[in-house]
Amino acid sequence: MDKMQDTIDILKQYNQDHVIKLLKKLDENKREELIKQIENIDLHQIAELYENTKKEIEFKESKIEPIKYLDKETLTEKQRKRYDELGEKIIRNGKYAVVTMAGGQGTRLGHTGPKGTFKLDVYGKGKYLFEILIENLKEANQKYETTIPWYIMTSKENNEETVKFLKKHKYFGYDKNYITIFTQSELPLIDINGKLLIGKNFKIKEASDGNGGTYSSLRASGALADMKERGIQWVFIGAIDNALLKMADVTLLGMAKEKKVQIASKSVVKANPHEKVGVFCKMNGHPKVIEYAELPEKMAEEVDKKGQLKYGESHIMCNLYTIEAIEKISQEPLMYHCAFKKNSYIDEDGKEIIPEEPNSYKFESFIFDAFEFFDDIAILRGKREDDFAPIKNKEGVDSPKTAKELYEKFWNRQK
Ligand code: UD1
Repeated sequence: MDKMQDTIDILKQYNQDHVIKLLKKLDENKREELIKQIENIDLHQIAELYENTKKEIEFKESKIEPIKYLDKETLTEKQRKRYDELGEKIIRNGKYAVVTMAGGQGTRLGHTGPKGTFKLDVYGKGKYLFEILIENLKEANQKYETTIPWYIMTSKENNEETVKFLKKHKYFGYDKNYITIFTQSELPLIDINGKLLIGKNFKIKEASDGNGGTYSSLRASGALADMKERGIQWVFIGAIDNALLKMADVTLLGMAKEKKVQIASKSVVKANPHEKVGVFCKMNGHPKVIEYAELPEKMAEEVDKKGQLKYGESHIMCNLYTIEAIEKISQEPLMYHCAFKKNSYIDEDGKEIIPEEPNSYKFESFIFDAFEFFDDIAILRGKREDDFAPIKNKEGVDSPKTAKELYEKFWNRQK
Protein backbone atom coordinates (compact mmCIF):
# COMPACT_ATOMS: atom_id res chain seq x y z
CA MET A 1 0.00 0.00 0.00
CA ASP A 2 2.92 2.32 0.74
CA LYS A 3 4.09 2.00 -2.80
CA MET A 4 0.63 2.89 -4.04
CA GLN A 5 0.55 6.00 -1.86
CA ASP A 6 4.05 7.04 -2.92
CA THR A 7 3.04 6.68 -6.55
CA ILE A 8 -0.14 8.69 -6.00
CA ASP A 9 1.85 11.42 -4.27
CA ILE A 10 4.33 11.76 -7.06
CA LEU A 11 1.63 11.67 -9.74
CA LYS A 12 -0.22 14.41 -7.89
CA GLN A 13 2.92 16.49 -7.65
CA TYR A 14 3.27 16.34 -11.43
CA ASN A 15 -0.42 16.91 -12.24
CA GLN A 16 -1.06 13.42 -13.55
CA ASP A 17 -4.41 12.96 -11.82
CA HIS A 18 -5.83 10.92 -14.71
CA VAL A 19 -3.22 8.26 -13.98
CA ILE A 20 -4.23 8.22 -10.30
CA LYS A 21 -7.85 7.62 -11.35
CA LEU A 22 -6.72 4.80 -13.59
CA LEU A 23 -4.59 3.24 -10.85
CA LYS A 24 -7.59 3.10 -8.56
CA LYS A 25 -9.69 1.33 -11.16
CA LEU A 26 -7.20 -1.37 -12.12
CA ASP A 27 -7.07 -4.91 -10.72
CA GLU A 28 -4.11 -5.77 -8.50
CA ASN A 29 -1.87 -7.24 -11.16
CA LYS A 30 -2.31 -4.44 -13.62
CA ARG A 31 -1.92 -1.89 -10.85
CA GLU A 32 1.38 -3.46 -9.76
CA GLU A 33 2.61 -3.34 -13.34
CA LEU A 34 1.69 0.31 -13.73
CA ILE A 35 3.30 1.26 -10.41
CA LYS A 36 6.47 -0.49 -11.47
CA GLN A 37 6.46 1.37 -14.76
CA ILE A 38 5.89 4.75 -13.06
CA GLU A 39 8.78 4.06 -10.67
CA ASN A 40 11.05 3.91 -13.70
CA ILE A 41 9.82 7.15 -15.23
CA ASP A 42 11.49 10.41 -14.33
CA LEU A 43 8.42 12.64 -14.02
CA HIS A 44 10.55 15.66 -13.28
CA GLN A 45 12.34 15.18 -16.60
CA ILE A 46 8.99 14.82 -18.39
CA ALA A 47 7.74 18.05 -16.82
CA GLU A 48 10.89 19.82 -18.01
CA LEU A 49 10.54 18.39 -21.49
CA TYR A 50 6.95 19.59 -21.57
CA GLU A 51 8.03 23.12 -20.61
CA ASN A 52 10.58 23.03 -23.42
CA THR A 53 7.87 22.29 -26.01
CA LYS A 54 6.72 25.86 -25.47
CA LYS A 55 10.08 27.33 -26.41
CA GLU A 56 11.18 28.00 -29.95
CA ILE A 57 14.53 26.85 -31.28
CA GLU A 58 16.69 29.89 -31.78
CA PHE A 59 20.13 30.06 -33.29
CA LYS A 60 20.25 33.86 -33.31
CA GLU A 61 22.66 34.27 -30.44
CA SER A 62 25.02 31.70 -31.88
CA LYS A 63 27.97 32.17 -34.16
CA ILE A 64 27.41 29.82 -37.08
CA GLU A 65 30.02 29.04 -39.70
CA PRO A 66 30.30 26.49 -42.50
CA ILE A 67 32.20 23.32 -41.66
CA LYS A 68 35.61 22.46 -43.12
CA TYR A 69 35.89 19.18 -44.96
CA LEU A 70 38.21 17.13 -47.14
CA ASP A 71 36.87 15.95 -50.46
CA LYS A 72 37.74 12.29 -51.09
CA GLU A 73 37.74 13.05 -54.81
CA THR A 74 40.48 15.67 -54.60
CA LEU A 75 42.85 13.89 -52.22
CA THR A 76 46.29 13.37 -53.75
CA GLU A 77 47.19 9.77 -54.47
CA LYS A 78 49.79 9.90 -51.73
CA GLN A 79 47.36 11.25 -49.18
CA ARG A 80 44.69 8.70 -50.09
CA LYS A 81 47.19 5.85 -49.87
CA ARG A 82 48.41 7.03 -46.50
CA TYR A 83 44.87 7.23 -45.10
CA ASP A 84 43.89 3.88 -46.54
CA GLU A 85 46.94 2.19 -45.06
CA LEU A 86 46.36 3.70 -41.64
CA GLY A 87 42.70 2.71 -41.70
CA GLU A 88 43.42 -0.77 -42.97
CA LYS A 89 45.92 -1.39 -40.20
CA ILE A 90 43.34 -0.53 -37.54
CA ILE A 91 40.82 -2.96 -38.99
CA ARG A 92 43.36 -5.75 -39.59
CA ASN A 93 44.48 -5.46 -35.97
CA GLY A 94 40.93 -6.02 -34.73
CA LYS A 95 40.57 -2.55 -33.30
CA TYR A 96 37.46 -1.54 -35.22
CA ALA A 97 33.80 -2.16 -34.41
CA VAL A 98 30.55 -1.23 -36.10
CA VAL A 99 27.25 -0.21 -34.52
CA THR A 100 24.01 -0.21 -36.52
CA MET A 101 21.10 1.84 -35.31
CA ALA A 102 18.10 -0.29 -36.08
CA GLY A 103 15.55 0.99 -33.59
CA GLY A 104 13.35 2.54 -36.27
CA GLN A 105 10.16 0.96 -37.53
CA GLY A 106 10.01 2.29 -41.07
CA THR A 107 6.62 3.90 -40.54
CA ARG A 108 7.14 6.44 -43.34
CA LEU A 109 8.10 3.55 -45.57
CA GLY A 110 4.83 1.80 -44.85
CA HIS A 111 6.69 -1.32 -43.74
CA THR A 112 5.32 -3.25 -40.80
CA GLY A 113 8.22 -4.54 -38.78
CA PRO A 114 11.79 -3.50 -38.08
CA LYS A 115 13.23 -1.43 -40.93
CA GLY A 116 16.12 -3.86 -41.36
CA THR A 117 13.66 -6.56 -42.37
CA PHE A 118 12.52 -4.54 -45.38
CA LYS A 119 13.41 -6.26 -48.63
CA LEU A 120 14.80 -3.97 -51.30
CA ASP A 121 13.92 -5.19 -54.75
CA VAL A 122 17.44 -5.40 -56.19
CA TYR A 123 18.80 -7.81 -58.77
CA GLY A 124 15.59 -9.82 -59.12
CA LYS A 125 15.63 -11.77 -55.88
CA GLY A 126 15.85 -8.73 -53.62
CA LYS A 127 17.89 -8.21 -50.48
CA TYR A 128 16.87 -7.33 -46.93
CA LEU A 129 18.44 -4.17 -45.52
CA PHE A 130 20.14 -6.27 -42.83
CA GLU A 131 21.47 -8.56 -45.56
CA ILE A 132 22.92 -5.63 -47.53
CA LEU A 133 24.80 -4.38 -44.47
CA ILE A 134 26.04 -7.86 -43.57
CA GLU A 135 27.34 -8.41 -47.12
CA ASN A 136 29.23 -5.18 -46.81
CA LEU A 137 30.77 -6.22 -43.50
CA LYS A 138 31.66 -9.69 -44.81
CA GLU A 139 33.43 -8.14 -47.77
CA ALA A 140 35.52 -6.01 -45.40
CA ASN A 141 36.26 -9.05 -43.23
CA GLN A 142 37.54 -10.95 -46.22
CA LYS A 143 39.63 -8.07 -47.48
CA TYR A 144 41.22 -7.29 -44.12
CA GLU A 145 41.37 -10.89 -42.84
CA THR A 146 39.44 -10.25 -39.66
CA THR A 147 35.93 -10.40 -38.19
CA ILE A 148 34.57 -7.01 -37.27
CA PRO A 149 32.44 -7.07 -34.10
CA TRP A 150 28.96 -5.84 -34.98
CA TYR A 151 26.57 -4.26 -32.47
CA ILE A 152 22.93 -3.82 -33.44
CA MET A 153 20.70 -1.42 -31.56
CA THR A 154 17.03 -2.34 -31.53
CA SER A 155 14.08 -0.74 -29.76
CA LYS A 156 11.78 -2.35 -27.19
CA GLU A 157 9.18 -2.37 -29.93
CA ASN A 158 11.21 -4.28 -32.49
CA ASN A 159 13.82 -6.21 -30.53
CA GLU A 160 12.05 -9.55 -30.45
CA GLU A 161 11.18 -9.47 -34.11
CA THR A 162 14.71 -8.43 -35.08
CA VAL A 163 16.31 -11.23 -33.07
CA LYS A 164 13.90 -13.76 -34.57
CA PHE A 165 14.53 -12.51 -38.09
CA LEU A 166 18.31 -12.65 -37.82
CA LYS A 167 18.18 -16.11 -36.26
CA LYS A 168 15.85 -17.37 -38.96
CA HIS A 169 18.25 -16.15 -41.64
CA LYS A 170 21.22 -17.58 -39.74
CA TYR A 171 22.66 -14.07 -39.46
CA PHE A 172 23.17 -14.18 -43.23
CA GLY A 173 26.36 -16.12 -42.63
CA TYR A 174 27.91 -13.73 -40.10
CA ASP A 175 29.74 -15.30 -37.15
CA LYS A 176 27.22 -14.93 -34.37
CA ASN A 177 29.96 -14.65 -31.74
CA TYR A 178 30.71 -11.28 -33.25
CA ILE A 179 27.14 -10.00 -33.12
CA THR A 180 25.71 -8.22 -30.08
CA ILE A 181 22.13 -7.02 -30.05
CA PHE A 182 21.19 -4.38 -27.50
CA THR A 183 18.04 -2.36 -26.90
CA GLN A 184 17.61 1.39 -26.61
CA SER A 185 15.47 3.08 -24.00
CA GLU A 186 12.10 4.80 -24.18
CA LEU A 187 10.37 7.94 -22.99
CA PRO A 188 6.66 8.52 -22.31
CA LEU A 189 4.43 10.36 -24.76
CA ILE A 190 2.50 13.36 -23.44
CA ASP A 191 -0.45 15.36 -24.72
CA ILE A 192 -0.61 19.12 -25.28
CA ASN A 193 -1.31 19.65 -21.59
CA GLY A 194 1.66 17.61 -20.46
CA LYS A 195 -0.47 14.60 -19.45
CA LEU A 196 0.97 11.13 -19.89
CA LEU A 197 -0.74 9.13 -22.62
CA ILE A 198 -2.24 5.79 -21.57
CA GLY A 199 -2.06 2.84 -23.93
CA LYS A 200 -4.51 0.01 -24.62
CA ASN A 201 -2.72 -2.22 -22.12
CA PHE A 202 -3.44 0.34 -19.36
CA LYS A 203 0.19 1.28 -19.15
CA ILE A 204 1.82 4.60 -19.91
CA LYS A 205 2.55 4.86 -23.58
CA GLU A 206 6.26 5.07 -24.27
CA ALA A 207 8.30 5.31 -27.45
CA SER A 208 11.97 5.04 -28.40
CA ASP A 209 13.95 8.04 -27.24
CA GLY A 210 15.71 8.71 -30.55
CA ASN A 211 18.98 7.56 -32.03
CA GLY A 212 20.93 9.78 -29.62
CA GLY A 213 20.10 7.06 -27.11
CA THR A 214 22.71 4.88 -28.82
CA TYR A 215 25.53 6.10 -26.62
CA SER A 216 23.94 5.60 -23.21
CA SER A 217 22.44 2.29 -24.33
CA LEU A 218 25.86 1.08 -25.47
CA ARG A 219 27.04 1.69 -21.93
CA ALA A 220 23.96 0.45 -20.06
CA SER A 221 23.75 -2.77 -22.07
CA GLY A 222 27.38 -3.71 -21.50
CA ALA A 223 28.20 -3.39 -25.21
CA LEU A 224 30.75 -0.67 -24.51
CA ALA A 225 32.45 -2.84 -21.89
CA ASP A 226 32.49 -5.68 -24.41
CA MET A 227 34.17 -3.43 -26.98
CA LYS A 228 36.84 -2.49 -24.47
CA GLU A 229 37.43 -6.10 -23.61
CA ARG A 230 37.94 -6.85 -27.28
CA GLY A 231 40.50 -4.04 -27.53
CA ILE A 232 38.40 -1.86 -29.84
CA GLN A 233 39.79 1.61 -30.45
CA TRP A 234 37.49 2.95 -33.17
CA VAL A 235 33.72 2.68 -33.40
CA PHE A 236 31.64 3.40 -36.47
CA ILE A 237 27.95 4.16 -35.95
CA GLY A 238 25.69 3.99 -38.99
CA ALA A 239 22.02 3.71 -39.88
CA ILE A 240 20.05 0.74 -41.10
CA ASP A 241 18.44 2.58 -43.99
CA ASN A 242 21.22 3.43 -46.43
CA ALA A 243 21.73 0.75 -49.08
CA LEU A 244 25.12 2.19 -50.04
CA LEU A 245 26.49 2.51 -46.53
CA LYS A 246 30.16 1.58 -46.28
CA MET A 247 30.54 -0.18 -42.96
CA ALA A 248 34.34 -0.01 -43.10
CA ASP A 249 35.69 2.97 -45.01
CA VAL A 250 39.45 2.86 -44.54
CA THR A 251 39.94 6.36 -45.97
CA LEU A 252 37.61 7.86 -43.37
CA LEU A 253 39.26 5.85 -40.62
CA GLY A 254 42.80 6.71 -41.70
CA MET A 255 41.92 10.37 -42.05
CA ALA A 256 40.54 10.44 -38.50
CA LYS A 257 43.65 8.73 -37.19
CA GLU A 258 46.03 11.04 -39.06
CA LYS A 259 44.16 14.16 -37.97
CA LYS A 260 44.15 12.90 -34.37
CA VAL A 261 40.46 13.74 -33.92
CA GLN A 262 38.05 12.01 -31.57
CA ILE A 263 35.15 12.10 -34.04
CA ALA A 264 34.84 11.99 -37.82
CA SER A 265 32.04 11.75 -40.31
CA LYS A 266 31.38 11.25 -43.99
CA SER A 267 29.20 13.73 -45.83
CA VAL A 268 27.80 14.18 -49.33
CA VAL A 269 26.77 17.43 -50.97
CA LYS A 270 23.15 18.28 -50.33
CA ALA A 271 21.05 17.55 -53.43
CA ASN A 272 19.00 20.75 -53.06
CA PRO A 273 18.46 23.37 -50.34
CA HIS A 274 15.42 21.56 -48.99
CA GLU A 275 16.61 17.98 -49.03
CA LYS A 276 15.59 16.27 -45.80
CA VAL A 277 19.04 15.83 -44.33
CA GLY A 278 20.84 17.37 -41.40
CA VAL A 279 23.67 19.74 -42.33
CA PHE A 280 27.04 20.22 -40.71
CA CYS A 281 28.24 23.57 -39.45
CA LYS A 282 30.28 25.00 -36.62
CA MET A 283 28.32 26.66 -33.86
CA ASN A 284 30.17 28.75 -31.33
CA GLY A 285 33.34 26.99 -32.40
CA HIS A 286 32.02 23.45 -31.99
CA PRO A 287 30.94 20.96 -34.66
CA LYS A 288 27.20 20.66 -35.04
CA VAL A 289 24.52 19.23 -37.25
CA ILE A 290 21.31 21.16 -37.70
CA GLU A 291 18.48 18.79 -38.50
CA TYR A 292 16.32 19.52 -41.56
CA ALA A 293 13.21 20.22 -39.52
CA GLU A 294 15.05 22.84 -37.50
CA LEU A 295 17.12 24.50 -40.24
CA PRO A 296 16.03 28.09 -40.85
CA GLU A 297 14.99 28.64 -44.48
CA LYS A 298 17.51 31.44 -44.98
CA MET A 299 20.37 29.22 -43.85
CA ALA A 300 19.20 26.35 -46.04
CA GLU A 301 19.34 28.53 -49.13
CA GLU A 302 22.46 30.58 -48.40
CA VAL A 303 25.17 30.28 -51.06
CA ASP A 304 28.85 31.22 -51.06
CA LYS A 305 30.79 33.27 -53.64
CA LYS A 306 30.97 30.27 -55.96
CA GLY A 307 27.22 29.77 -55.81
CA GLN A 308 27.55 26.59 -53.70
CA LEU A 309 25.30 25.97 -50.71
CA LYS A 310 27.08 27.41 -47.68
CA TYR A 311 25.61 24.69 -45.49
CA GLY A 312 25.67 21.92 -48.06
CA GLU A 313 27.56 19.19 -46.20
CA SER A 314 24.90 16.58 -45.43
CA HIS A 315 24.96 14.37 -42.39
CA ILE A 316 24.44 10.88 -43.84
CA MET A 317 24.86 9.01 -40.56
CA CYS A 318 28.33 7.68 -41.20
CA ASN A 319 29.88 8.65 -37.91
CA LEU A 320 33.16 7.50 -36.47
CA TYR A 321 34.45 7.78 -32.90
CA THR A 322 37.41 6.81 -30.79
CA ILE A 323 36.42 4.49 -27.97
CA GLU A 324 37.31 7.32 -25.57
CA ALA A 325 34.81 9.58 -27.32
CA ILE A 326 32.05 6.98 -26.88
CA GLU A 327 33.09 6.54 -23.27
CA LYS A 328 32.75 10.28 -22.69
CA ILE A 329 29.49 10.85 -24.61
CA SER A 330 27.75 7.86 -23.07
CA GLN A 331 27.94 9.59 -19.68
CA GLU A 332 26.65 12.97 -20.82
CA PRO A 333 22.96 13.74 -21.22
CA LEU A 334 21.97 14.88 -24.71
CA MET A 335 19.29 17.46 -25.39
CA TYR A 336 15.84 16.28 -26.48
CA HIS A 337 13.99 17.45 -29.56
CA CYS A 338 10.26 17.17 -29.66
CA ALA A 339 8.01 16.04 -32.46
CA PHE A 340 4.26 16.63 -32.49
CA LYS A 341 2.63 13.39 -33.66
CA LYS A 342 -0.58 11.41 -33.90
CA ASN A 343 -0.83 8.81 -31.15
CA SER A 344 -3.85 6.80 -30.06
CA TYR A 345 -4.64 6.62 -26.33
CA ILE A 346 -7.20 5.49 -23.78
CA ASP A 347 -9.42 8.21 -22.34
CA GLU A 348 -10.73 8.39 -18.78
CA ASP A 349 -13.63 6.11 -19.62
CA GLY A 350 -11.27 3.47 -20.97
CA LYS A 351 -12.22 4.19 -24.56
CA GLU A 352 -9.55 4.13 -27.25
CA ILE A 353 -9.21 7.42 -29.11
CA ILE A 354 -7.56 7.41 -32.51
CA PRO A 355 -6.78 11.03 -33.35
CA GLU A 356 -6.98 12.40 -36.86
CA GLU A 357 -4.62 15.26 -36.11
CA PRO A 358 -1.34 15.30 -34.17
CA ASN A 359 -2.17 15.29 -30.47
CA SER A 360 0.99 14.44 -28.57
CA TYR A 361 4.68 15.05 -28.09
CA LYS A 362 7.39 12.48 -28.66
CA PHE A 363 10.86 13.24 -27.36
CA GLU A 364 13.99 12.18 -29.14
CA SER A 365 17.67 12.85 -28.75
CA PHE A 366 19.74 12.94 -31.93
CA ILE A 367 22.99 11.06 -32.47
CA PHE A 368 24.80 14.14 -33.76
CA ASP A 369 24.05 16.37 -30.79
CA ALA A 370 27.06 14.78 -29.12
CA PHE A 371 29.39 16.42 -31.66
CA GLU A 372 29.16 19.65 -29.67
CA PHE A 373 31.12 18.02 -26.85
CA PHE A 374 34.22 18.17 -29.03
CA ASP A 375 36.35 20.98 -30.42
CA ASP A 376 36.76 19.42 -33.80
CA ILE A 377 35.47 16.86 -36.24
CA ALA A 378 37.12 15.55 -39.40
CA ILE A 379 34.71 15.46 -42.32
CA LEU A 380 35.34 13.46 -45.46
CA ARG A 381 33.11 14.39 -48.35
CA GLY A 382 32.14 11.27 -50.23
CA LYS A 383 30.05 10.90 -53.35
CA ARG A 384 26.30 10.52 -53.32
CA GLU A 385 26.40 7.80 -55.98
CA ASP A 386 28.90 5.79 -53.93
CA ASP A 387 27.75 6.47 -50.39
CA PHE A 388 24.13 7.43 -50.03
CA ALA A 389 21.00 5.55 -51.04
CA PRO A 390 18.53 6.30 -48.25
CA ILE A 391 15.26 4.41 -47.94
CA LYS A 392 12.79 6.62 -46.08
CA ASN A 393 9.55 7.06 -48.01
CA LYS A 394 7.17 4.67 -49.70
CA GLU A 395 7.33 6.60 -52.97
CA GLY A 396 9.15 9.52 -54.57
CA VAL A 397 12.43 10.79 -53.14
CA ASP A 398 14.47 8.47 -50.91
CA SER A 399 12.20 5.56 -51.68
CA PRO A 400 12.90 1.88 -52.45
CA LYS A 401 12.77 2.82 -56.14
CA THR A 402 15.49 5.49 -55.91
CA ALA A 403 17.60 3.30 -53.60
CA LYS A 404 17.34 0.33 -55.98
CA GLU A 405 18.56 2.47 -58.88
CA LEU A 406 21.49 3.84 -56.90
CA TYR A 407 22.40 0.42 -55.51
CA GLU A 408 22.33 -1.37 -58.85
CA LYS A 409 24.20 1.42 -60.63
CA PHE A 410 26.92 1.32 -57.98
CA TRP A 411 27.36 -2.46 -58.16
CA ASN A 412 27.24 -2.49 -61.96
CA ARG A 413 30.13 0.00 -61.91
CA GLN A 414 32.16 -2.37 -59.70
CA LYS A 415 31.88 -5.23 -62.21
C1 UD1 B 1 18.39 10.94 -40.28
C2 UD1 B 1 19.25 11.96 -39.58
C3 UD1 B 1 19.54 13.12 -40.53
C4 UD1 B 1 20.22 12.56 -41.75
C5 UD1 B 1 19.37 11.51 -42.41
C6 UD1 B 1 20.14 10.82 -43.52
C7 UD1 B 1 18.88 11.90 -37.19
C8 UD1 B 1 18.11 12.45 -36.06
N1 UD1 B 1 18.58 12.42 -38.38
O1 UD1 B 1 17.12 11.50 -40.52
O2 UD1 B 1 20.36 14.09 -39.93
O3 UD1 B 1 20.51 13.59 -42.67
O4 UD1 B 1 19.01 10.48 -41.46
O5 UD1 B 1 19.49 9.73 -44.03
O6 UD1 B 1 19.73 11.07 -37.04
N2 UD1 B 1 16.72 5.18 -35.06
C9 UD1 B 1 16.87 4.39 -33.96
N3 UD1 B 1 16.16 4.71 -32.84
C10 UD1 B 1 15.31 5.78 -32.78
C11 UD1 B 1 15.16 6.58 -33.92
C12 UD1 B 1 15.89 6.26 -35.04
O7 UD1 B 1 17.62 3.42 -33.97
O8 UD1 B 1 14.71 6.00 -31.73
C13 UD1 B 1 17.53 4.87 -36.24
C14 UD1 B 1 16.70 4.40 -37.42
O9 UD1 B 1 16.50 3.02 -37.38
C15 UD1 B 1 17.58 4.83 -38.57
C16 UD1 B 1 18.23 6.12 -38.07
O10 UD1 B 1 18.17 6.06 -36.67
O11 UD1 B 1 18.61 3.89 -38.78
C17 UD1 B 1 17.62 7.43 -38.59
O12 UD1 B 1 16.28 7.42 -38.43
P1 UD1 B 1 15.27 8.63 -38.43
O13 UD1 B 1 14.99 9.04 -37.05
O14 UD1 B 1 14.15 8.20 -39.26
O15 UD1 B 1 16.01 9.89 -39.07
P2 UD1 B 1 15.81 10.58 -40.48
O16 UD1 B 1 14.65 11.50 -40.44
O17 UD1 B 1 15.84 9.56 -41.51
